[in-house]
Amino acid sequence: FPSVRHATVLRVFILLLCVGVFVVLRERVAEVSLENFSPFHNTSPCACGKCLSEDDVWFTQRFNKSVEPFLSAKHSLSEAAFRWWKGIQLEKRNFIYYSATVDNLFKTFPATPDVEASSDRCRTCAVVGNSGNLNGSPTPLDTHCKFPPLMNTGRTKGYEADVGKRTTHHVMYPESAVDLDNTTHLVLVPFKIQDLEWLIKAFTTGFSGASYMPVKSHIKANKDLVMVVNPAFMRYVHDTWLEKKGRYPSTGFMALVLALHICDEVSVFGYGADKDGNWSHYFEILKNKHLRTGPHAGTHEYDVIQQLHKNQIIHFFKGW
Ligand code: C5P
Repeated sequence: FPSVRHATVLRVFILLLCVGVFVVLRERVAEVSLENFSPFHNTSPCACGKCLSEDDVWFTQRFNKSVEPFLSAKHSLSEAAFRWWKGIQLEKRNFIYYSATVDNLFKTFPATPDVEASSDRCRTCAVVGNSGNLNGSPTPLDTHCKFPPLMNTGRTKGYEADVGKRTTHHVMYPESAVDLDNTTHLVLVPFKIQDLEWLIKAFTTGFSGASYMPVKSHIKANKDLVMVVNPAFMRYVHDTWLEKKGRYPSTGFMALVLALHICDEVSVFGYGADKDGNWSHYFEILKNKHLRTGPHAGTHEYDVIQQLHKNQIIHFFKGW
């Protein structure tokens, strides 16, 4: 009997300890989020009629507020995340080289990414992918959306009726880079260390390196509005949102999850393969009829977008 009583006492003690840890953790989390408040964390309740739903179980199982979307001068990356990122485009150089390159970035670009924050805001965003699915979908972009990121070589000139005129953020990587006007944020998705080096050089001395396709040596854009996506965020999108499907998430899918993290209301346009299963573009005739969705899990990405819409987390507009 004494051993049974001991076991019971031990169980009660462990239970009390667990409750204690839970309470302490809750307090600690609150403390940490106040101490480390960053402008791109959606910490305040939004002032929209309907905000990104945090009581949707499917959504909360995937949405992780604690992953920093953008690199800042206070960057830190786990070695595990670096190893994953290194595998995307077969980077050879090591973690020390990566860290030194990121340190260098912030000699040229803002130490903290420029994402406005206010306590009583309703930030409505439109994310525009490059699919022809855009044609014929409604165009509320210039009237109610304040954050319409465009992707890669996507363009607005000549497509104002479908895309809208104003682009506040343009998501790109070196091989897809285009010049921007002075008011548009350049959001770089880096797939290798060279992409970070490109960013610095394209704004300063000029880039002369080679890649799997030609890369612009100089870029015209406002350097004070440059933002670089955190490799840890890219890994989170792959692991959590895509359940590791595809080699890595597409630029467009990452832009969509970014919008979930920094906006209060998200509308999505221009996503979805054409009837042959190819990721063709609204602005050009497809040359490679066997393109499919490249190294990306296109069907799964599309299913997640549809699920987000079904759960009323986003509005997904389709032309087909
Ligand atoms: O092809 P590109 O990468 O420039 O397009 C930008 C993004 O738009 C893609 O990464 C993808 O997420 C999305 N897209 C799509 N369906 C298409 C074309 C592009 O979903 N037909």
